[in-house]
Amino acid sequence: VIAFFTPKTLAGQRVLVTAGPTYEAIDPVRGITNLSSGKMGFAIARAAREAGADVTLVAGPVGLPTPRGVTRIDVKSAENMLQAVTGSAQAATVFIATAAVADWRPSAPSTQKIKKDGSGQTPQLAFTENADILATVAQSAAALAGKLFCVGFAAESHDLLENAQAKRLRKNVPLLVGNIGPDTFGLDDNALLLVDERGSTELPRASKLLLARRLVQEIAGRMAARPA
Ligand code: CTP
Ligand code: CA
Repeated sequence: VIAFFTPKTLAGQRVLVTAGPTYEAIDPVRGITNLSSGKMGFAIARAAREAGADVTLVAGPVGLPTPRGVTRIDVKSAENMLQAVTGSAQAATVFIATAAVADWRPSAPSTQKIKKDGSGQTPQLAFTENADILATVAQSAAALAGKLFCVGFAAESHDLLENAQAKRLRKNVPLLVGNIGPDTFGLDDNALLLVDERGSTELPRASKLLLARRLVQEIAGRMAARPA
């Protein structure tokens, strides 16, 4: 019912969202992952659809239903996610990276389950850094030409404003969104800090769906305000 009254501020836009954690295999039965419920990203995909956009959601392993009218691509690892995003980014006009991408993956995952050998020795894992999906998209020709509006999220445990501002510059995105913690993981409520070239503004504590709708209207306003 609410969706019916949502202003269609993103009509004609194609929005690509990443959400959830990634899972990096150690062997066929084990892996490393990040804490992320995917709720914020799924809420943003839903809100963007409500606002009239054509929405593609690239989701890591989460147990959430697909928002109505949204095209979903399920992925597991950061490498899978990068591939899915690269395939969809050409057509997109907005990219919103909410995924908690694993920063590292085991360099040489075992094809067979690693067994204890009885000696008490533990496996030694070597890691490789995963590609930065957001930074990669933000460096694409479309983004650099101002045809693809990129929005990042930041998971910070301390000094949110300073870290978020530094991250925004490092990733070269116009808007970076910080979670105002502590520990929003899995909760239905959150508060957000929007960091841009002019400074920061807060979206006060609310349900993730309400925040997602506010953020979507915020993004639509910023896109409309851009020089043509
Ligand atoms: N991100 C990404 N690909 C990665 C790592 C991060 O697309 N390999 C995106 C996230 O989806 C988020 C933003 O980059 O939108 C910031 O992620 P975060 O983990 O906070 O930043 P990092 O650059 O990984 O730095 P660090 O974890 O060391 O703070
Ligand atoms: Ca990270």
